Amino acid sequence: MTPPSDGRRFDPSPAFTERANVSDGSIYEEFEQNWPECWERAADLLEWQEEYDTVLDESDAPFYEWFPDGELNASYNCVDRHVEEGRKNHAAIRWEGKLGDRRTYTYQDLYREVNEFAAALRGLGVEEDDVVTIYLPMIPELPIAMLACARIGAPHSVVFAGFSADALATRMKSADSEHLITCDGYYRRGNAFDQKSKADNALLDLDASATTVVVDRLDESVGHVLADRQHDYRELIRSRAGVTVEPVVRDAGDVLFVMYTSGTTGDPKGVVHSTGGYLAYSAWTTQTVLDVKPEDTYWCSADIGWITGHSYGVYGPLALGTTSVMYEGSPDYPDRSRLWEIIERNAVDVFYTAPTAIRAFMKWGQQYPDRHDLSSLRLLGTVGEPINPRAWQWYYEHVGNGECPIVDTWWQTETGGMMVTTLPGVGTMKPGSAGPPLPGISIEVVDEEGEPVPTGESGYLTVDRPWPGMLRSLSDDDQFFEEYWSRFSDPDNDEWVYFSGDGARIDEDGYVTVLGRVDDVLNVSGHRLGTMEIESAVVDVEGVAEAAVVVGRQGGHGGTVHAYASTEHGYEGDGELREQIVAGVEDAIGPFARPDRVIFTPELPKTRSGKIMRRLLEDIANEEELGDTSTLRNPEVVGEIEAAGRED
Ligand code: WT7
Repeated sequence: MTPPSDGRRFDPSPAFTERANVSDGSIYEEFEQNWPECWERAADLLEWQEEYDTVLDESDAPFYEWFPDGELNASYNCVDRHVEEGRKNHAAIRWEGKLGDRRTYTYQDLYREVNEFAAALRGLGVEEDDVVTIYLPMIPELPIAMLACARIGAPHSVVFAGFSADALATRMKSADSEHLITCDGYYRRGNAFDQKSKADNALLDLDASATTVVVDRLDESVGHVLADRQHDYRELIRSRAGVTVEPVVRDAGDVLFVMYTSGTTGDPKGVVHSTGGYLAYSAWTTQTVLDVKPEDTYWCSADIGWITGHSYGVYGPLALGTTSVMYEGSPDYPDRSRLWEIIERNAVDVFYTAPTAIRAFMKWGQQYPDRHDLSSLRLLGTVGEPINPRAWQWYYEHVGNGECPIVDTWWQTETGGMMVTTLPGVGTMKPGSAGPPLPGISIEVVDEEGEPVPTGESGYLTVDRPWPGMLRSLSDDDQFFEEYWSRFSDPDNDEWVYFSGDGARIDEDGYVTVLGRVDDVLNVSGHRLGTMEIESAVVDVEGVAEAAVVVGRQGGHGGTVHAYASTEHGYEGDGELREQIVAGVEDAIGPFARPDRVIFTPELPKTRSGKIMRRLLEDIANEEELGDTSTLRNPEVVGEIEAAGRED
């Protein structure tokens, strides 16, 4: 996964630097000298109902408390204050629908609907600290529902709309969530897809019956029936027309939301984010790294069902009072010009997307961006996986016209916001390397023993100082300690080191090159999936004895899922079983996790202690030279697996 650096360097243009929110490199030193008080700068971007006492309380580490005793409301910060500051008719959300329909919500519009929906949720019995699950595609009701929850102090748990009924049920159960907001269906490539039946199937799986709100997204041709305790979104809003709800005062450490993500164990982990630290950090990074200004039109193309959409599609930009573009569809529908057409029409200033998308644009060809006037763009960003220098270069030339800096931002669901990247008005860009840690952030690349590795050598990427956007915990506190703090910390000496699960190396200028996951987590086209999650879906299929899942990276289009499976006695590894395996994964997780290849093998390669050697399968899947096989108990299977792979 190592993107080879081609040694080229790029500097921001004077035209960019002159206007940049941050153009003075002394910010690094300033933050260092003044840590942790430097983070007041982030907190100052918000309006607090009660000022915090101190910036950071470390007494209960690793349960750090950012801005303790401070009180605020996220919905007030993202909506009301912009209305009060005389910007009520400034566009907050410019939404582009799949079928060419468009809607603009001003801050006033947002204020109105968020209040009405907050009142409706209260009316349905949602109380402070109740977890509300939101299972919606990219329609404006999604951020509105999030902000309505934040307004009444109910943490939201947004589940990506592409997840299956099973995956939704697992997340609702884990969060003890008894409230669900979903829709009848949505459009994909011009076709209507049923979402409500997936939601209904998930609800059947819960012990208690949940209150459900259904947004009517599809036209009349696709009907749906509301059962008991299911309410129509529009009707609820209409019945609360003009009603306002006082924003609930939340402690800085109170939960703003839960976001499930994949870890090394089978069950998804509920990452818990705080109200004060998280919101301050997403606003500060949006301003500092994405250089967003209130008068900008800014577009983060990520789905709000993932953390990027939370931090940089909703909370960061709206906290700053900017205009955030939201797009419902795919980049190639109705044709491959769609994104460029949206950038041109909305005169987007800053665009933030993923390397997997950039590689697709590259494959389609430069004629598509070339056909559009993209001169409004000032800055470009990428996130989700390492970007190879060739894709970087293409993005720089064909989208940015050689004039826009690119920020390659490394971060994770758990970090809440960006951690490693250049500051666009300050740093030299090195394609393939994300950049130095942000001001105030301390990154160490360490070996097995937790000792820093020499410059240029690879090791484990750790963070050895807390930061405001950090997860507060997991829904399970013990698991929180185990997953992130057990490997490199020294609790006896109160030394806490966060382990990211990534490998990396740092060069002589302090630039971090991220090498990808070193644990059993796959990054498939920017979606994070646990091998265990997919494997358990595969072995659930009747006739499958054992399975191992690895990521293939051929063709340069993000990752693809390769499943290796052995069959039980009496079962045949044939086309039918292959179909059942694919369907099993779709049911357990969702179509986006579907294995691209299912390879049957008489046995899986195992070490003498019986552990499946995934590394070897990964080499085979990617037709790379096989690593060390001397610890294999059954070396003879290697040839058989290679042969099976060729036949498939
Ligand atoms: C994992 C986190 C953070 C939002 C999107 C994904 C990989 C993320 C980069 C980057 C290299 C990256 C890491 C990380 N990753 N950004 N700029 N360069 N790798 O969030 O689902 O929590 O996944 O994505 O492996 O651990 P996520």
